[in-house]
Amino acid sequence: MKNRSLVAISDYSKDDYLEIMELAAQFEKNPVQKILDGKVVATLFFEPSTRTRLSFESAVNRLGGKVLGFSDTSQTSVSKGETLKDTIKMVSCYADLIVMRHPLEGAARYASEISKVPIINAGDGANQHPTQCLLDLYSIKKTQGTLDNLKITMVGDLKYGRTVHSLLMAMSYFNPSFSFIAPEELRLPDEYKQFLKQRNIKFEEHTEMAPNINDADIIYMTRVQRERFADPLEYEKVKNVYVLRNSMLDNTKPNVKILHPLPRVNEISTDVDDNPKAYYFEQAQNAVYTRQAIICKTLQLL
Ligand code: CP
Repeated sequence: MKNRSLVAISDYSKDDYLEIMELAAQFEKNPVQKILDGKVVATLFFEPSTRTRLSFESAVNRLGGKVLGFSDTSQTSVSKGETLKDTIKMVSCYADLIVMRHPLEGAARYASEISKVPIINAGDGANQHPTQCLLDLYSIKKTQGTLDNLKITMVGDLKYGRTVHSLLMAMSYFNPSFSFIAPEELRLPDEYKQFLKQRNIKFEEHTEMAPNINDADIIYMTRVQRERFADPLEYEKVKNVYVLRNSMLDNTKPNVKILHPLPRVNEISTDVDDNPKAYYFEQAQNAVYTRQAIICKTLQLL
């Protein structure tokens, strides 16, 4: 690890990923341990969240630590005009670790340069969501038995989808091949295609789901994120562009698993939920074990 904060997935090495997965597997077997006794973790959410905030708080509670923070800035001095810099300087006096989500790309990096305590990025705009990435890796390893040589098919908002950006960077260590399925307006940005080309990683791009999901080991669905569009009309054009239905899984591989960082809106029909190929709710549960591992590693407690 280059420094103690986790801001981008590139702050971790391949060995760090493997260590987190090993620790997460141990926490899955034994989630209640008093490792954080006497520690305080702040969760600062400048943008809405269900899974990330609550799974971090669950992770801290199961490890015997205490949580403080906010999920709505309207009840804080941010609403009076206090800057991010001053907010982070203050909270880093009150906690041993700050978990932060912010709508602006780069906000977590900036916070890590100001804070006296480590920062864990819980999502910064369309940029990065490294802890989601690590729980995605854990879910892929758990369901496929390996991270190596897999076909990963990513569907939906590949332009603004920060979980997509983090995951393709992390998977690049494991010789994947990618299929990117997106409408023209939401194609994967060139910088990420350049990243893959420099590493000789195969990828293809499509605009249609069928039959392009049939050879996947992982189908990674994403939501078209209304909050990232400056123009509501642009969002209306693409919001329901892909809907995965149960019947579309008939010709997919027996081992395929469907992942989604959630929340979903319409992009996975509820008739998929009972299909054994659906894994998104288990994936969300894996968040607790993975975040227990990340917190302990960041605080150098294991
Ligand atoms: N996956 C994820 O980040 O979900 P939340 O927005 O609910 O935290």
